[in-house]
Amino acid sequence: MLKLIVANWKMNPATPREARELYLKTKQAALKQRSARVIICPPAIFIGCLNHKTSSRLSLGVQDISVHRNTGAFTGAISAAQASYSEAEYAIIGHSERRAAGDEEKIINTKVKLALAAKLNVILCVGEKSRDGEGGYLQELHEQLTSALAGVPNNFYKKLVIAYEPVWAVGKGASGADTPAEFLHHKLFIQKVLSKTVGAAAAKAVPVLYGGSVDHKNAESFLNEGQAGGLLVGRASLRADHFKQIIYAAR
Ligand code: PGA
Repeated sequence: MLKLIVANWKMNPATPREARELYLKTKQAALKQRSARVIICPPAIFIGCLNHKTSSRLSLGVQDISVHRNTGAFTGAISAAQASYSEAEYAIIGHSERRAAGDEEKIINTKVKLALAAKLNVILCVGEKSRDGEGGYLQELHEQLTSALAGVPNNFYKKLVIAYEPVWAVGKGASGADTPAEFLHHKLFIQKVLSKTVGAAAAKAVPVLYGGSVDHKNAESFLNEGQAGGLLVGRASLRADHFKQIIYAAR
């Protein structure tokens, strides 16, 4: 299976020109890498500036969608259908920064269903805020998965990607990345939870990505030792030279 290397640019870069430059450098690396599909998630306002042509190696995604299905008076929001009419093929949903801004489980569940109904692939982010020694946080992970996917028909699981991102490992203030061995443990836990709904084979086919302080030095160990289905990369995706090395790590 192709490794999915996702670039979450968040609210970066500052200008469309910089976005185009970063896109072109990332594209060059992506087209050289046969073992990966690279998915760039820029600020939605930049999607139209990139002159993107869909290919099997490089796709675009949005970082979030609205909880509302139809067009209407929802200032600042972008619907799943609008995203899918742009070149976006993927939608990140439930990112910890969106959860911190008020996306509760019910909202995330609605967004997952709207994105799938609009034919977008969903990258669902889950991850605990902190890790207690007794494994109690696994209940939090279980709850995030089951509530986000409640009522999602089984045949949609082939459009689903899970990104396991422990919140303490995400972003500037992070205490550092998880370990590949711990990731593998959590990947198996996630697939076990999914298998209760869709069966073992379908659950195993859902790619489970690692995210949280991925860089050009640790990427390979998460992909190999950690057996990650791919990586969700924030800060390091803004450095074309570093992100290139992360893409090449999928070899
Ligand atoms: P980071 O962000 O790589 O900067 O830790 C990851 C994410 O937010 O998805």
